[in-house]
Amino acid sequence: MNDSTATHMMQLYAQLLEADRAYYHDNAPIMDDASYDALRRALEALEQEHPHYVHPDRLLDKVGIAPASGFGKITHGVPMLSLANAFSAEDVADFVDRVQRGLMNASVSFMVEPKIDGLSFSALYEYGRLVHVATRGDGTQGEDITANFRTLKQCVSQLTQAIPRIELRGEVYMSHDDFAALNAGQEARNQKIFANPRNAAAGSLRQLDATITATRPLSYFIYGCGAHEGLPCSNQAEFFAWCAEQGLPVNPQAQQVHNVAMIEEHYQRLMHERSHLGYDIDGMVIKVNEFALQERLGAIARSPRWAIAYKFPAEQARTRLEDIIIQVGRTGALTPVAVLRPVTVGGVVVSRATLHNRDEIERKDLRIGDHVLVERAGDVIPYVSCALLDEREASAQPYIFPDHCPVCGSPAVQEADEAVTRCTGGLVCDAQRVERIKHAVKRGCFDIEGLGGKNSELLCERGLVRTLSDIFTLQERNRDSLTPLRKLEGWGIKSETKLFEAIESARSISLSRFIYALGIRHIGENTAELLATHYHTMDNFMHAMQNFSTATSEDLRNIHGIGDAVVGALQQFFAHPAQKEEVECLRTLVQVQDTIAPMIAQDSIFAGKTLVFTGSLSLCSRDEAKRRALSLGAKVASSVSRKTDYVIAGSDAGSKLTQAQTLGLTILSEQEWMEQTR
Ligand code: IVH
Repeated sequence: MNDSTATHMMQLYAQLLEADRAYYHDNAPIMDDASYDALRRALEALEQEHPHYVHPDRLLDKVGIAPASGFGKITHGVPMLSLANAFSAEDVADFVDRVQRGLMNASVSFMVEPKIDGLSFSALYEYGRLVHVATRGDGTQGEDITANFRTLKQCVSQLTQAIPRIELRGEVYMSHDDFAALNAGQEARNQKIFANPRNAAAGSLRQLDATITATRPLSYFIYGCGAHEGLPCSNQAEFFAWCAEQGLPVNPQAQQVHNVAMIEEHYQRLMHERSHLGYDIDGMVIKVNEFALQERLGAIARSPRWAIAYKFPAEQARTRLEDIIIQVGRTGALTPVAVLRPVTVGGVVVSRATLHNRDEIERKDLRIGDHVLVERAGDVIPYVSCALLDEREASAQPYIFPDHCPVCGSPAVQEADEAVTRCTGGLVCDAQRVERIKHAVKRGCFDIEGLGGKNSELLCERGLVRTLSDIFTLQERNRDSLTPLRKLEGWGIKSETKLFEAIESARSISLSRFIYALGIRHIGENTAELLATHYHTMDNFMHAMQNFSTATSEDLRNIHGIGDAVVGALQQFFAHPAQKEEVECLRTLVQVQDTIAPMIAQDSIFAGKTLVFTGSLSLCSRDEAKRRALSLGAKVASSVSRKTDYVIAGSDAGSKLTQAQTLGLTILSEQEWMEQTR
């Protein structure tokens, strides 16, 4: 075998990977099945001829992109070190001094770059092809996040210049805009809210299921390299230019400087521009520019002698705590909020900050009228870090946490094992009502377009909507009203008609969405789905809830994935006569669809089997098909492997079907699948 054969094989593999990525992750095939098969056959022929040159990854990944496999371990070619810190101009001057002495006063230039607040990774490329990607881990060995990294929009599977080997090092992060959008979506789906972009990036990258990573907006910058062979650069400045040529993202703020004064100037500029960059940085990295000089300086312990992190001071501002107000959430949680004299922290004006709960106020001993410090660390969410006790005035009053809901006056209680204090008013409480309406109309519930947060508030404020069922009688009442919606400021016939059309089309709803829309504590989308699958019809569900007994509790606990918290929450919700009545009323106004799958899980031939759906289904939607499969006790996978038991192929099925045929799996048409599951 000669080098050009090896390169050709690498190229074929890279093309196949690219096609797999487009097909599996982007849902946008870049070649037809015949071309894909031709490439695959060409590579397989060469692999037979040169078995010693089959890349180890190729053996694992005969079928599409291998899923993240519980995170295997990858040993870095060159360890990933960390950086020593500098906190002042003096520290930096000392660093520059040490460098110069270490190099016998040779003239040295530096590269200064933002220190991105994200997660570092190392991506190995061989002959220009992406082989694997690992997290930093302990510096020597990291976790294999290849499948996840491949789903990033900026992922480069093939470098333009196929140098034999390079470990590219960089930082994955989430931009402020993407973070805000992700959290908004998470909130709408009642899913975990991330505290800051860094956590969101970490949570998204370290997903065992790469299809989840694929839905998360992650970005990265390359900042350096580990082991390399054939890299045509001798310093960091050339390296960045080379990366840019390869299509790799490099930070536009990086700059070459020549002395301490220039370093300080760049630091001040970065600090000033920090809040406008659109992503979090927590300092500036200063690196000796020339690779040869870096090598001469070497490393001590875990950090190189040729680089240092010049950290930013925590962004802090002093202000006054003018008041503490209480917000009441959908499930009655009373959240104290600090009302601050507006102050700028890191370029953002802050006038409110959450104080989380009663204990937090006590722990920090915050009193109304106190001078306080407000901080914005890596986070974008500001918080009150402490009261300046020396400056406390005699008039500062300890805060007494209310024992009644400030909105409806019902008792507010803190359960023994909870940090949260809750209003016990349920539907009596206006605040809870509005929040419940907002929840019920969002996506995943009734999904009423045109009834977002603002309009829900407006309808509630005007007394037009007090309960969920009021939404579905609104049109009738509006018709006879002297002040119909179309006459309100900012409204017109068009927006009114659109809203009523949206309400009409929301009248038909699946049982799981209906249950989720009720906004019961602890009942998110998944739990609602479990309940809907279990009860199958609205009648069954309501019968069980209306007659909540020990048998009901036991029955519920037997559902895999449902525990005491959910059982308690359901019992409490339906113990409220007003709430029970409201659900009864609501079901007369909407059509709740039975859960499709009949409850025959145990006797189904699909129970315990792994299924893959491919191609387009015409008799039902993918979602319905999946739900049906799950309720029969089957598992649904997204890619075909030897572990797949059945492949259900709709029309236009592509390479998954071919793979299933190659592996000799049982393949069912959509028609056959429907017949077997009737
Ligand atoms: S250079 C030999 N450059 O900071 C060390 N690191 O504490 C090479 N980081 O683990 C690191 N931006 O995760 C370097 N422009 C940048 C960076 C950067 C962020 C992170 C990286 C590293 C940590 C060092």
